[in-house]
Amino acid sequence: MKIIKTPAAFARWRQKIPAKTSVGFVPTMGALHEGHLSLIEKSNRENRLTVVSIFVNPTQFGPREDFNRYPRPWVEDIRKLKKKNVAALFYPAPESMYPKDFSTEVFVSGLSKTLCGSIHSRGPGHFKGVATVVTKLMNIVRPTRTYFGLKDFQQVRVIEQLNEDLNLGFKIIRCPTVREPDGLAMSSRNAYLTSAERRYAPQLYQTLLYGRKLLTSHPSKSPDQVQKILKNRLSSIPDVKIDYVELVHPRSLQKVEKNRRPILIAAAVKFKSARLIDNILVK
Ligand code: PAJ
Repeated sequence: MKIIKTPAAFARWRQKIPAKTSVGFVPTMGALHEGHLSLIEKSNRENRLTVVSIFVNPTQFGPREDFNRYPRPWVEDIRKLKKKNVAALFYPAPESMYPKDFSTEVFVSGLSKTLCGSIHSRGPGHFKGVATVVTKLMNIVRPTRTYFGLKDFQQVRVIEQLNEDLNLGFKIIRCPTVREPDGLAMSSRNAYLTSAERRYAPQLYQTLLYGRKLLTSHPSKSPDQVQKILKNRLSSIPDVKIDYVELVHPRSLQKVEKNRRPILIAAAVKFKSARLIDNILVK
């Protein structure tokens, strides 16, 4: 596996790959788990070569967020990538991605301001950081296909929208959420959970499943009524603060008024040691 540390060095490596060779790309922030690896496996199945990036992108973290303590298990990550036959790892230093005079930002308005982007949650700056870095990464890697996980449904929508709006023409592939046997969505941040929190954490997904059941078996229940029930249920999890639980349209991510599918139920909760998100698409 080739390890490449600057955009210029990546461009030199990329140039040598014949135009007809398909290249799959999986952008990550490292601390790789089965969720990440499932994206890499899908890319391996659908492309000749797979490129992975590991970059803990400072601009998508808020000032009170976990940038400094975000896990960086370099040796384990490299071992996992080699096992999956990844052709190249792009591992840029922050200075090579954001030189001193860096001044362009990509902001997908609307989609960046709801759910995790609302001011009560992480705020719209989070998705500005994501949109900007993903635009840069895709322009550097020039992939045939790029793979994103639906655990971060809003992130996928933001990236799909900027790809359309800016006519970038990249192929964005949505990948299903990989879960622990008890239903908890895999996440690098699960490592922060205390053992008590880890025991309660699956209730987030259980609540979303319950929401789906309410919508499908009680068509007379409005999204507002279902939201209230889910809020109540989430607030009964010990030591949890609800960030949000919303029923939205899966394209606009705006609140739905009527119980008419498709509906995305998305939620974020804060334990003392970690913030968890999850969602379920009710078709
Ligand atoms: P990161 O959280 O490392 O996730 C990298 C990719 O793995 C994302 O597409 C994410 O949705 C996917 N992923 C994470 N957990 C998953 C799970 N349980 N099942 C399936 N896919 C999962 O998301 C980011 O990094 C960053 O925002 C990034 C896109 C790299 C930009 O900095």
